[in-house]
Amino acid sequence: MLRKLLIGTALASGLAFAAHAEDVKEVQMLHWWTSGGEAAALNVLKQDLAKEGYAWKDVPVAGGGGDPAMVALKAMVAAGNPPTASQMLGYTALDYAAAGKMGDITAIAVKEGWDKVVPAALQKFTVYEGKWVAVPVNVHSVNWLWINKAVMDKIGGTEPKTFDDLIALLDKAKAAGVIPLALGGQNWQEATMFDSVVLSTGGPEFYKKAFNDLDDASLKSDTMKKSFDNLAKLVTYVDPNFSGRDWNLATAMVIKGDALVQVMGDWAKGEFHAANKTPGTDFLCYRFPGTDGSVVYNSDVFGMFDVSDDRKAAQAALATATLSKSFQSAFNVVKGSVPARTDVPDTDFDACGKKGIADLKAANEKGTLFGSLAQGYGAPPAIANAYKDVVTKFVHGQIKTSDEAVTELVKAIDDAR
Ligand code: BGC
Repeated sequence: MLRKLLIGTALASGLAFAAHAEDVKEVQMLHWWTSGGEAAALNVLKQDLAKEGYAWKDVPVAGGGGDPAMVALKAMVAAGNPPTASQMLGYTALDYAAAGKMGDITAIAVKEGWDKVVPAALQKFTVYEGKWVAVPVNVHSVNWLWINKAVMDKIGGTEPKTFDDLIALLDKAKAAGVIPLALGGQNWQEATMFDSVVLSTGGPEFYKKAFNDLDDASLKSDTMKKSFDNLAKLVTYVDPNFSGRDWNLATAMVIKGDALVQVMGDWAKGEFHAANKTPGTDFLCYRFPGTDGSVVYNSDVFGMFDVSDDRKAAQAALATATLSKSFQSAFNVVKGSVPARTDVPDTDFDACGKKGIADLKAANEKGTLFGSLAQGYGAPPAIANAYKDVVTKFVHGQIKTSDEAVTELVKAIDDAR
């Protein structure tokens, strides 16, 4: 991977040098979209840019959640060699903007009227001191269950409406000899699942206070302890080989019917889509029990770096292509996410996508749209990392009790503040 990255970087800088005063007809993009569904979605963008005459210089850095990608990006930026754009989450674009590393695409935003169609919750992460520094690509949400329909039918299961219903359903799968819960034991996957558990255990107000406001009393509360108890229960339903497993391999277990359910963001749906599976027939998407009505979101944005003048036209083409209505529909249908603008019809989306679009709108109106702490939308990266660390230690037995987990969480978040 590093070799690929270095070659990509060297090629890009060589081309930039050769082209000199003329525009570089190439977009160099760093991202972590390396699974089947993700690559298919990215292809939509590559094709749109090819139509505009721009070549694609890929800088893939595998690792769901993007932590390895962000390490690679930091090195490129420190070397004075930023890509045209990079996939980013949450506060990252704002941090690079504060460090003076981002470009300014406000003129395009104004010309295309982005502020009228991009939800305020996203603009908060793409506009820095009044300037657009990033383009939102999509809105994902994490509080979903992805269920194999044939397995569900075989065990006579129905949609779990409460956490206890979910446990009863997992018990049925276990009794039938199917792995109940497909999980990849990596910190970001475990924390992404815990976001849902906390919302389900404490409700929307509690999630907001604990994971968006970082309210001390909520972080320390019995409800947080109960949330860890519930997480511990869920973990008893995973197979022994879960440690280190990639998220898309966990999704594949559900697609194949080796496991009943995965708790994962709707990028999982991109894998079902890539495997030609249909919701309602092959798989089921339900909100994590007890969380219907709320949406815990993250949004992939393309952070636009302060690139040399000869690369600005390519960057502008990328920005315009990314927020075009047609791209927002075509890309998000394949990716499993929903559009980052409010005026895209849901016509081409499957049933889960239509629900995702409607849920987002309703949550936005009701004030139940919350940033995912695991995905960097609840708090800046240092705090998100502290959170992931505590959750993974708990899941893997280095933190033994829920009481201890709560103490460690409060301490880790305090240290990271
Ligand atoms: C990103 C998704 C991606 C997933 C798994 C998340 O952080 O927002 O776009 O598909 O990680 O790689």
